[in-house]
Amino acid sequence: MYQEIDLDKDLSKIDINAEPPIKEPDRQYYYMAKCRERVKGFEEENGRRPCYFVQTFGCQMNARDSEKLAGILELAGFVKAQGEEADFVIYNTCTVRENANNRVYGRLGYLHNLKKKRPGMRIALCGCMMQEPEAVEKLKKSYRFVNLIFGTHNLYKFAELLAQCYETDQMVVDVWEQADQIVEELPAERKFSFKSGVNIMFGCNNFCSYCIVPYVRGREKSREPKDILREVERLAADGVVEIMLLGQNVNSYGKTFDPPVTFAQLLQEVEKIEGLQRIRFMTSHPKDLSDELIAVMAQSDKICRHLHLPLQSGSSRILQKMNRHYNKEDYLLLVEKVRATMPDLALTTDLIVGFPGETEEDFLETMDVVKKVGFDSAFTFVYSKRSGTPAAQMEGQVPEEIVKDRFDRLLKEVQEISAQKAQKLTGSVQDVLIESINDHDAALVTGKMDNNMAVHLKGDAGLIGKIVKVRLDACRGFYYYGSRVCGDTETDQDTAALPENQPPCMG
Ligand code: SAH
Ligand code: SF4
Ligand code: F3S
Repeated sequence: MYQEIDLDKDLSKIDINAEPPIKEPDRQYYYMAKCRERVKGFEEENGRRPCYFVQTFGCQMNARDSEKLAGILELAGFVKAQGEEADFVIYNTCTVRENANNRVYGRLGYLHNLKKKRPGMRIALCGCMMQEPEAVEKLKKSYRFVNLIFGTHNLYKFAELLAQCYETDQMVVDVWEQADQIVEELPAERKFSFKSGVNIMFGCNNFCSYCIVPYVRGREKSREPKDILREVERLAADGVVEIMLLGQNVNSYGKTFDPPVTFAQLLQEVEKIEGLQRIRFMTSHPKDLSDELIAVMAQSDKICRHLHLPLQSGSSRILQKMNRHYNKEDYLLLVEKVRATMPDLALTTDLIVGFPGETEEDFLETMDVVKKVGFDSAFTFVYSKRSGTPAAQMEGQVPEEIVKDRFDRLLKEVQEISAQKAQKLTGSVQDVLIESINDHDAALVTGKMDNNMAVHLKGDAGLIGKIVKVRLDACRGFYYYGSRVCGDTETDQDTAALPENQPPCMG
């Protein structure tokens, strides 16, 4: 268990018979103490503590939110379960595409069966899908076995809602239309000991015409630099070597502060934090990518040579209908500029196929940009109609067979290019942060290069969290097989003292 703040915070000093404090986060710690009391009762009755399971759907932002949910549950005394056969199950949902919603409804049927066999089990739903009134109506009507529903804006109140949900057998529903504040200093349980996401902003103001995120995540709000820096300092002191700064559009960070703070300035401050070795960020909107940011990236020793720059479409006509505020030429020029400054930069992107009104010519424009840029990798999506967004009302929804055909052609192109790109690194030596034991072969470990590509190599659990030097022996399209070379960075104390130019250390 890894925490970003003091999880041993002594909840026993809190008087749970007093009135709950008004101020946050004190109020939430009060409710965590209340929940802990209930956990004690459960333990006396059952001879074990209640267990929880958090399932995340969607993006990195949701993954980070789930760590906050887990942190609160842990502090309240719950223990982590390996699967949904748990006393408290929470699904942190996504609604960016229709199939994300369908997956949640599908899984709920399974949960219902589990609940029938497990008296006292509580089921909770939160996240982006809960911000959609139609989804909540459907759940209220047809999924009465769900105990708790809340949204994205009041996640910080989870301890309070948890306490409430254990006090009643009625469904507790608390969804807010907008955020009232950013609450700092709540616990979070990190999934990895050596890397962590860090929110720098919440919400989105861009209203790309296909996208539901601004409706379910609300208006853009940046966290204070001092709060972000304090969090990163604590993480680094706790052994975290890589952080991912998270926001829907990190390039517009800090614009509302007086005086404004730019994302590039924030990065420079984060870079100074000792112990931290790698900085990543997600996501950059091309319209706001500044020269200042490019310069800061180019000079940095810690910012990874990877830029995720969602293109969405290569057709200027479609980009305008998407409300993206750049055209094909702007995007190509931007890529030229970043590559001129950082030739080794890995570029990745997101692409949507089948946006309303997309013609074959528009699609070919996307293919053209894909070929011209040569992305290291790309996430390709079939356009999904989200009700309430402007695109849902647009004429010319593209027939399914045409979309499928375009999607297949695009995917093939993207994959061929990324395989060619990846191949270029074969034989080179790269820094790799070892993240886990390989899923398929326990004699191997898997790590990530600076450019975010995966590498498998011989090794054991002792390497996890270390940055080691690896020769890339063979490329398999999206990943590499490699072997360790001696002379690793200072994180790897065991081998740093070895003489240079040694043969690969196999294991
Ligand atoms: N804020 C990020 C993206 C967040 S959503 C950005 O602007 O880059 C992640 C990706 O999902 C988007 O980049 C887009 O490619 C895709 N997406 C969003 N809405 C979609 C929809 N309605 N249909 C299909 N793909 C969608
Ligand atoms: Fe959605 Fe556009 Fe905001 Fe990204 S920038 S979250 S695609 S509205
Ligand atoms: Fe999904 Fe919400 Fe992220 S809709 S993509 S989980 S911001």
